[in-house]
Amino acid sequence: MIRPRNERPRARITGTGRYSPERVVTNTELESLVDTSDEWIRTRTGIRERRIADDDTSTADMGAAAAREAMGRAGIEPEDIDVLILSTATPDRLLPSTACDIQASLGAKNAAAYDITTACSGFPYGLALAEGHIAADQAKTVLVISAEKMSAIIDWSDRSTCVLFGDGAGAAVVQPAEDERGILSTFTKSDGTLAELLWRPAGGASIPLDIAVLDSRSHLVQMAGPEVFKAAVRSMCEAAGSALERAGVAAEEIDLLVPHQANIRIIESTAKYAGIPMEKVYVNVDRYGNMSSATVPLALDEARETGRVGPGSLVLLVAFGAGFTWGSAVVRL
Ligand code: ACO
Repeated sequence: MIRPRNERPRARITGTGRYSPERVVTNTELESLVDTSDEWIRTRTGIRERRIADDDTSTADMGAAAAREAMGRAGIEPEDIDVLILSTATPDRLLPSTACDIQASLGAKNAAAYDITTACSGFPYGLALAEGHIAADQAKTVLVISAEKMSAIIDWSDRSTCVLFGDGAGAAVVQPAEDERGILSTFTKSDGTLAELLWRPAGGASIPLDIAVLDSRSHLVQMAGPEVFKAAVRSMCEAAGSALERAGVAAEEIDLLVPHQANIRIIESTAKYAGIPMEKVYVNVDRYGNMSSATVPLALDEARETGRVGPGSLVLLVAFGAGFTWGSAVVRL
């Protein structure tokens, strides 16, 4: 029998951190790469620029940098980490997991480390897992990292996708809650029947990488933009409503909505459906583009640093991604 939520040890985010590559790529720069314009990108997506990692910076490097910041804020040492969860759609290699590389880099020698591949909704999924590890008394300190080097898997000759994405990482330390602050609800859901609307068709075990795959560029991201747009709005709205309902929290009580940053129009639709005015919505898609699962934790950390949220703030996190997958959480910081 499932114990009622209030009888289980609850979990709390005790520190957040982020990493952004230094190199800024503006829309205007992309005009020399593909047939596009700053005006088209801004009006359709809200994106003005994105950060792109250099060749020497890996997904693990970005994830470890964000994790170090989060650990510093939580006041923990690498040995304190019991579980390290990395959400990424851009693992540095397929075997072993990139989480293990980050574990080695941090010196988190007591941790169990694993990757999750739920694309852009990885951070709410990671929080749900962290919450579960703590509720089951399997861990006292869980590190949830989302790190994405989208520039490595997008087709730079495809204008319908290459203008949308960027690189970066965000992280959070999750530990048992000691007071009313903590993760009040999580919600996760998927629909695998729509996988082919946003995918990398080849390069895995079913169609291994070979010259034909490379020539056809089918190992890179392909997306049916308008169909994904509709599913994203539908799913983000469901995720927002479900997390609020599970937490027993009204939309008016939310101090800040931190949505996945793929497209300003999807963000506006989600906020409208959830009944949250845009003044209470964190938006940075203009500066970073879509960094897949890194968007939500990076935005949360920026919101904390800029004073948009502080101890005790009530925050709604909502994300949607390939799979399709979607997820959300209500958190009292
Ligand atoms: N520059 C100029 N024109 C372009 C570009 C570009 N970069 N890309 C496409 N176009 C053209 C198309 O070819 C099309 O031209 P046509 O009418 O002559 O055929 C026209 O612009 C309109 O294309 P649409 O795809 O209909 O444009 P839309 O308004 O749907 O916007 C967009 C496209 C921005 C991709 C939108 O559909 C979208 O945001 N979809 C959701 C994407 C998303 O959220 N993905 C990520 C979620 S999951 C995850 O994060 C991994």
